[in-house]
Amino acid sequence: MLNNEEILQRDYIEKLKEIVSKKKAELGRDLTCQVTTFGCQMNARDSEKILGILLAAGYVETQSDDADFVIYNTCTVRDNANQRVYGRLGALKSHKKKNPNMKIGLCGCMMQEPSVIEKIKTSYSFVDLIFGTHNIFKFAELMVRMLENDQKVYEVWEGTQEIVEDLPIERKYFFKSGINIMFGCNNFCSYCIVPYVRGRERSRKPEEIVEEIKKLVADGVVEIMLLGQNVNSYGKNLDNPISFAKLLEMVEEIEGLERIRFMTSHPKDLSDELIETMKKSKKICHHMHLPLQSGSSKILSVMNRRYDKEHYLELVKKIREAIPDIAITTDIIVGFPGETYEDVLETIDVIKKAQFDNAFTFIYSKRTGTPAAEMPNQVDEETVKKHFDMVLSTVQDMAKERTARFNGQTVDVLVEDINEQDSEYLDGRMSHNTVVHFKGSKDLIGKIVNVKLTNFHGFYYDGELV
Ligand code: 5AD
Ligand code: SF4
Repeated sequence: MLNNEEILQRDYIEKLKEIVSKKKAELGRDLTCQVTTFGCQMNARDSEKILGILLAAGYVETQSDDADFVIYNTCTVRDNANQRVYGRLGALKSHKKKNPNMKIGLCGCMMQEPSVIEKIKTSYSFVDLIFGTHNIFKFAELMVRMLENDQKVYEVWEGTQEIVEDLPIERKYFFKSGINIMFGCNNFCSYCIVPYVRGRERSRKPEEIVEEIKKLVADGVVEIMLLGQNVNSYGKNLDNPISFAKLLEMVEEIEGLERIRFMTSHPKDLSDELIETMKKSKKICHHMHLPLQSGSSKILSVMNRRYDKEHYLELVKKIREAIPDIAITTDIIVGFPGETYEDVLETIDVIKKAQFDNAFTFIYSKRTGTPAAEMPNQVDEETVKKHFDMVLSTVQDMAKERTARFNGQTVDVLVEDINEQDSEYLDGRMSHNTVVHFKGSKDLIGKIVNVKLTNFHGFYYDGELV
C-alpha cells in the first residue's frame, strides 16, 4: 500500500508531466534530460529513482551535456569525486548560455556539506536545483517548484526518519537490480564522511523488501543486490528486530529469483549465522566484499574500525572453510594519519595471507568534519605515493594469481551486455563477480548460461558457451 508521502509525490509527478508537456508544445520538440552518477551502488540506485521520475514526467534521456535538464548525483567520500563534479559543472556553464531552457540540478552526498553549498552559491550560481540525500523522495515536488515559478530551489535536510520507496524507477538493466535494505551508517570510522552525509542507520521492514523483490522478479529481474553501508547490522533497530542472515533466508525463498548479492559487509558485525546461511544457500553468490581498510591493528584502532588484524584474518579463514571457492574482495586506504612503513608492511602481509580476488586501493583523503582530518600526524604526499605503489603492486600480483584459479572450469554466467569492443561477443558475470567475455548472440542478455573459461587476462576471462 502507498503511504501518504508516496501518494503526494505521485501527484507531483502528474503536475510535472503537465508542465513538461506544455513546454514541449511551446518548443515544438522533446525535452531531454541527463542523469550522471558519481560514487557507489547506493548512488546508482538513487539515480535510477531520479531517472524513473523524469521519464514518467515525459523527459527523454540523453547522454549529451546540452540536455534541457542535467543532474549530477554526487559523491563526497574522497575529494577527487568532488573535484570531478566542479570540473563538469564548469563545462556546463557554456551550454546553459546557449540553451535558455536548460536547468541544472545537483543532489547526493556532497550536497549535505554546508561548505559545498556555499561554494556553489558563490562560484556556480547558475545551478537551479539542489537537494540532498534525505529529501530525494521529494524530487518531483522540487522540480515542480523550480519549473512552475522559474525559480531556484535549494533544499537540503539534516536528516529524516522517512522511508519513501514506492515511486517510479528506471532500471539500468532489466534483469538485475539493486535494492536498498537500509540507509545511513552508525559506525563513524574516523576517516569517513558517510555517517555525516547519509545520517543514522535505518532499516526497511523485511516484508517490504521481500515485496519489492517479488515485484522486481515478476518484472524480469533474476539477480538482486541488497544495498546498505553496513548490511551486517541490518534489522537491529527495527521494532521487531531481525538479523541480516534471516532476511537473506526470506529472500532465498522468492521463486524465480536466481542470484543474491549484497554490499557492504563490515567485519566487526559479520556473524557465524551469516556464514552458515551463505553456505546453505543456493542463490547467494560466492563473492564477499569485506573492506579491510588497513592491516595494521594500531591503525585500525585509530580508524575506529573495532576489529584487529587477527580478527580479520580469522574471519577470512572461517568464510573460506565454509565456502572454499568464494571470492573475497576488499577496500584498502593508504596514507591514513600516522601510518608508517611498518604499518604498510602489515597491510601487505594481510593482502598476502587473505588472498583477495581483488582490492580497491584508495589514497587517504582528508574529509572536513571527520576526526581523522584533525589528527596532527598527516602523512606527506611523497611517502603516501610510495606506500600506495607498494600496496597496489602487491594487490595486482595477488589478484592475477588468485582469480586465474577458475581457468578451465565451466561456470554459470549471467549475461549482462554486448561487448563494447566486438559486437559478436558478450560480457557476463560469474557468481564470483569476475567478468567473462564469450561469443554469443544478444538475445542471451539477462539469461544465466554455462561458459567454459579458456583464458585469463588479469581481470577477466575469455570463455566459450557450452
Ligand atoms: N579517504 C580514502 N578512502 C576512503 N574511503 C572512505 N573514506 C575515505 C577517505 N576519507 C574508502 C573506504 C571505503 C570506500 C567506500 O571508500 O575504503 O570502504
Ligand atoms: Fe564509512 Fe565506516 Fe560507515 Fe563504511 S562503515 S560508511 S567506512 S563510517
